[in-house]
Amino acid sequence: MLKKTEKQVDLGLRQFIKDLGYISGGAALLSTIPWLQSFTPDTLNEIKNEKARIAVIGTGSRGQYHIHALLPMQHAEIVALCDIYPPNLEEASKLCPTARKYTDYRKLLESPDIDGVVIATPLNWHALIVLDALSAGKHAFCEKSMALTMDQCKAIYDAYQKTNKVLYFCMQRMFDEKYIKGMQMIHSGLIGDVVGLRCHWFRNHDWRRPVPSANLERQINWRLYRDSSAGLMTELATHQLEVCNWATKRIPQSVVGMGDIVNWKDGREVYDSVSLTYRYSSGVKITYESLISNKFNGMEDQVLGNKGTMNLATGMYYLEGVDNTGNSGIEQLLSQIGNKVFAAIPAAGSSWRPETKKEYKPHYIIEGDYNINDGLSMIGAVKDGSDEILSAFCQACITGEKGKDIVEEAYCATLLCLLGNQAMDEQRRIDFPDEYKIPYMNF
Ligand SMILES: NC(=O)c1ccc[n+]([C@@H]2O[C@H](COP(=O)([O-])OP(=O)(O)OC[C@H]3O[C@@H](n4cnc5c(N)ncnc54)[C@H](O)[C@@H]3O)[C@@H](O)[C@H]2O)c1
Repeated sequence: MLKKTEKQVDLGLRQFIKDLGYISGGAALLSTIPWLQSFTPDTLNEIKNEKARIAVIGTGSRGQYHIHALLPMQHAEIVALCDIYPPNLEEASKLCPTARKYTDYRKLLESPDIDGVVIATPLNWHALIVLDALSAGKHAFCEKSMALTMDQCKAIYDAYQKTNKVLYFCMQRMFDEKYIKGMQMIHSGLIGDVVGLRCHWFRNHDWRRPVPSANLERQINWRLYRDSSAGLMTELATHQLEVCNWATKRIPQSVVGMGDIVNWKDGREVYDSVSLTYRYSSGVKITYESLISNKFNGMEDQVLGNKGTMNLATGMYYLEGVDNTGNSGIEQLLSQIGNKVFAAIPAAGSSWRPETKKEYKPHYIIEGDYNINDGLSMIGAVKDGSDEILSAFCQACITGEKGKDIVEEAYCATLLCLLGNQAMDEQRRIDFPDEYKIPYMNF
């Protein structure tokens, strides 16, 4: 967390909307972030005495994170919990002892006193539980990514077109203040035309969890196996590819990539090292990289414009031709030799300018308190939009108002992840398949 002042930030959605500056005269701004349109102060006042009755399905680490967020929420009440692994169900039950306990989510869905379910199970369960929840007449909030296969994603998307129920996926950057404000700056032209995107997520952690007995290995370490996980792409890249889609308002047409297990050769089936290039029809590219055996580079979501760079994850942007034109090439060179950047003089023509990040002065997307997701936490940063998107879902359970674009953004991001895996597995370029295109997509 980067602290610029000691001001306390209220995690409530009301405060979030206020912080975004939408309390008065914000309608125009709000129209650029469609999924926030339902959360005007008027709507918030209307529902102030109501509570959404919520059940949490999957009470492992992320499920418990959501329970901690739900407990103090004024407009939500946890009425039921479900998990197939008794120790995790018991741990969750200690947090909310009055909630009923289930081991079969289908039984839980039969209960009439549940308005919405929060699904935080492994990826292979997402599609089944989401579809069953919608069929049972429940609103659903499901963790990212949308599902394990493209067909499952399409089935969810199609079901969503037919239901009147609310469906959210936890694409929390869509509710992260610095991403929202940074995107508005990008879309207003601050960094010029978007000419490239560079995202990476580096950690140094094996992703393994201790298992009490060998027969629970695949259940507990579900992230490592192909029948329950699509690895780094669906666990990490999904958030970042959503950011690229949001920034460009387009979907890449094709992807190439390489994936390998370079370090954690422990029987896992998913890659621990991926490098991919996604290409838009304009020729603009996303360079994506993730590695979980070196954390030097942390996590960054960079949108590169011809007039500047927006680094949404760090909450900073840099302008070209404004902040870095002060010194002539020779002055920059002399200063860099003085600072031991170069051991020898690089020979270049008279128009040569050193190209180094050091010359860039950072500007902050948000003045005041804000949080940086360094990418190292398994369950999310202190304030990364997760609590706000969950709070928004609980409100939508009360109003019944569907969230605009959330399912579509999750669908697009997940499809890109799965296509990336396909490109790496088959070692060839994959073009976006027609059968998975939806009207929301612009190529
Ligand atoms: N949005 C984010 O930033 C973020 C962060 C972490 C995890 N996640 C997502 O949250 C989900 C859960 O991840 P996790 O780290 O909490 O995993 P976890 O293994 O800690 O928890 C998953 C829980 O689901 C339970 N479960 C498995 N099958 C079930 C079933 N059929 N019915 C009920 N419960 C079942 C497991 O027993 C376990 O307790 C994943 O989809 C993951 O990608 C999202």
